[in-house]
Amino acid sequence: MNQDIAAEIAVLREDLHHHNYLYYALDNPQIPDAEYDRLLRRLQVLENENPELITTDSPTLRVGSAPLDAFTQVKHELPMLSLDNAFNDEELADFNKRVIERLGDSLTDDAIEYACEPKLDGIAVSLIYENGVLVLGATRGDGTTGEDITQNVRTIGSIPLRLKGEGIPERLEVRGEIYMPKAGFEKTNKLAEEKGEKLFVNPRNAAAGSLRQLDSKITAQRSLEMCAYSVGVVQGGQLPSGHGQILEQLSQWGFRINREMQVVHGIEACIAYYAALSDKRNQLPYEIDGIVYKVNDIKLQRELGFISRAPRWAIARKFPAQEEITQLMGVEFQVGRTGAITPVARLKPVFVGGVTVSNATLHNEDEIRRLDVRVGDTVIVRRAGDVIPQIVSIVESRRPSGTKEILFPKSCPVCESVIVQVPGEAVKRCSGGLVCGAQMKEAIKHYASRKAMDIDGLGDKLVELLVDKKLISSVLDLYHLELELIAELERMGEKSAANLLEAIETSKQTTLARFIYSLGIREVGEATARNLAQYYGDIDPLIETDEETLLSINDIGPVVAGFIVGFFAQEDNRQLIHHLRDQGVSWPVVLVQHEALPLAGTSYVLTGSLAALTRDQAKEKLQLLGATVTGTVSKKTDYLVAGPGAGSKLKKAEQLDVPVLDESQLLELLESHNAAI
Ligand code: IVH
Repeated sequence: MNQDIAAEIAVLREDLHHHNYLYYALDNPQIPDAEYDRLLRRLQVLENENPELITTDSPTLRVGSAPLDAFTQVKHELPMLSLDNAFNDEELADFNKRVIERLGDSLTDDAIEYACEPKLDGIAVSLIYENGVLVLGATRGDGTTGEDITQNVRTIGSIPLRLKGEGIPERLEVRGEIYMPKAGFEKTNKLAEEKGEKLFVNPRNAAAGSLRQLDSKITAQRSLEMCAYSVGVVQGGQLPSGHGQILEQLSQWGFRINREMQVVHGIEACIAYYAALSDKRNQLPYEIDGIVYKVNDIKLQRELGFISRAPRWAIARKFPAQEEITQLMGVEFQVGRTGAITPVARLKPVFVGGVTVSNATLHNEDEIRRLDVRVGDTVIVRRAGDVIPQIVSIVESRRPSGTKEILFPKSCPVCESVIVQVPGEAVKRCSGGLVCGAQMKEAIKHYASRKAMDIDGLGDKLVELLVDKKLISSVLDLYHLELELIAELERMGEKSAANLLEAIETSKQTTLARFIYSLGIREVGEATARNLAQYYGDIDPLIETDEETLLSINDIGPVVAGFIVGFFAQEDNRQLIHHLRDQGVSWPVVLVQHEALPLAGTSYVLTGSLAALTRDQAKEKLQLLGATVTGTVSKKTDYLVAGPGAGSKLKKAEQLDVPVLDESQLLELLESHNAAI
């Protein structure tokens, strides 16, 4: 009997290790999460009934163990070094020169082979495996002594509890970075916010905070990952002679390694790698703060050795910082299209995330309270990728005397209407509607924008000017603009004025989806507008619709349905639509097909560049045929359309066996559904 249980436990563990590896190391799960959970629960039950059969590499440890009183100190057998930094190409070139000079006679070729890898922004970790079983996980600490976080690292799915494959050394130390992917960070903070807990300022702090838990059950709930980037102690076994090959070997033993890693020849290729990865940085699912270059040949690494705390064979080329310190000079309140009042921080200009930033959003009143920020405070500003700059925290120890409390206005700063707040919502809104100059401007900007009526040349600045000069006060006025009056505006002239009128004229031929979107109904974005167009076919049935019908449409819930019905219930809005049509705004009636469209139920991702049409155009065409088009490749993706320059998405698709179409195949597909360009 006991034999049978031991055998079942062994099979379950083997299975769980295998699926864990497929999921975390290869990003290629082969069973649903629910099935994995069932296997894990079965193992849990058997272990609970037979505690003598529990081992230190059991997958049940992934959910966390009994809390500790304190972390124990661990002395590293080999010190955990840090890296020197290079902040520009010259400093990187100097590093290369030093390497070449030092290696002198050992070189036959000056083009050194470098392994280039992203520098992950997380926490360094050392993992010790004895006979393939994880026995210790430790933080870097001061490089000599760290803390024992074994219980916590066991909860991280991408850390193998037991290695698989051939040639595993008797004792092996694997080093790498534990980090929290961007998506996990947002999830963690969203949860913290719902629970009224303190938010983490960035993914790195979130990773550190999650690892520092004495209760590993908390760590288990956080989305942490580990990526292996080197080895330390190796006893009773042999590793390959190049860094790149060592990583490949680690991957075969079950670790996640960074697939962006490339071994290149010479410094020029290193610089090119930096440029390529800088472009990709925002699309990566995790944060990186630079590139690490390592001399690939381990023999040469040994020859180079290290000075004080950093190796001579590696360097980190840092990206421009994404967080900086500056001063809050004041707060202004902006009024958006829907009347939402957003406090905007005016900052002492600071270079962060590669640009000079002088404004940051403060979101709403709750955020001001949460940050406890005052005018005059020293603040940390963060600009990651294309995201709007944010104030992540204040530096309390640097609060000067005489800071001023930020008072939220009681009336709209533009039209002085009363500011209202729906109970339970964080945003406050101006109640002035289109009477409010600010809302009027935003509504017109939205109407003219590229994804709405697409009036070429009518950008935000020009709309503001036209409104300020009282030439327009609604979108309808656009169709009564006179050439002479526009030509007199700053930086306009006859030609630009004529072009603008021409563009307004051209834009009148539109699509129903665009027109619905351009009305600026709250919560009706492009996708919803498209669904509405598809369902109703023309504007009149939509104007007359009711909530019940709306609720039967894909993706429309009670809130949006309420906004839509509310919008068309207003006589002003009906009149506006009527007048716009009188002016010649028109669209082809959409063939209403409440049944499946030809590509309904299929999911596409577009990547790389296309020649005959833009990605946005391709997206629109696919969506018109009923396909969903998303930004990330997953198991659920049916096709990836990849043009030249495709990168990580293409790799992911190949890993997941997602069929890949090139542009000509896409055009063929569109043509076959009469949707050619
Ligand atoms: S190699 C002696 N590779 O950066 C080599 N480090 O500033 C030391 N890091 O403590 C590390 N990504 O936590 C290496 N691909 C990568 C890395 C990386 C992130 C971190 C690591 C280290 C710190 C040094």
